[in-house]
Amino acid sequence: MMRRFRWLQWCAPGLGAALLWLATAAAGQSLAPRLAQCAACHGADGNAQIKDFPSLAGQPRVFLENQLVMIREGMRDIPAMKGTLDGVSDADIAALAQHYASLPVKSTPGAQNTALFERGRQLASDMRCGICHLPNYQGREQMPRLAGQREDYLLHSMRQFRSNQAVGRDTLMAAALYGVSDQDLQAMAHFLARTPP
Ligand code: HEC
Ligand code: HEC
Repeated sequence: MMRRFRWLQWCAPGLGAALLWLATAAAGQSLAPRLAQCAACHGADGNAQIKDFPSLAGQPRVFLENQLVMIREGMRDIPAMKGTLDGVSDADIAALAQHYASLPVKSTPGAQNTALFERGRQLASDMRCGICHLPNYQGREQMPRLAGQREDYLLHSMRQFRSNQAVGRDTLMAAALYGVSDQDLQAMAHFLARTPP
């Protein structure tokens, strides 16, 4: 009886590896059409080319995963992404986050206004943005990278936080930007977009 199944002992490890390969390939396959969808707005390499649309490349994995769950559950309301994540499994969300976190940031800010840049640097330092986003603004865990993000998106999202329109987003940010003038937001966006990613 034992003898008849001895081949299993030899085959099982190979079989396991083959099944794992199949499962990974299947996950990769299911991700490809989604990635093509995301690419239309967030860029094929995760670096967005559209005004007010965020780049995802090089963001902390945890930040991306959190945001994707919030967006899927409709807690962070993004009209442009309505329905995009319907029925996307947790495993696929983790894979999407991993994918974008691993892509290199390609920041292409326009010309630098030295006075504005310097003012933004001073403001961000005085307002201690680096306590959460790190002193080099690379972000960590649930805190997004700001360095090298699109300038228009940085300004757009800071305006949303300040006016309490950032539904479903961390209230810490509304508190951090409470009462800050639009000129100051512009200076910080100018500086952060030009900070090396
Ligand atoms: C039709 C355009 C569109 C498509 C398609 C789209 N997005 Fe978005 N996405 C946006 C916009 C616009 C925002 C920012 C909205 C805002 O903050 O006002 C956003 C925000 C995000 C954010 C939050 C980023 C941040 O820095 O706060 C993540 C993560 C994200 N999208 C991931 C994805 C993924 C993954 C896909 C594909 C499954 C996808 N998006 C498809 C337009 C799109
Ligand atoms: C107490 C911690 C904390 C401080 C201080 C802080 N932030 Fe944030 N910030 C966060 C967190 C957490 C998020 C993610 C919000 C979410 O989950 O929706 C965020 C998000 C942002 C975003 C949105 C980026 C994106 O990709 O969606 C911008 C822009 C930003 N912060 C700028 C700033 C600036 C500028 C300052 C200083 C004036 C600052 N933050 C201070 C914690 C902080």
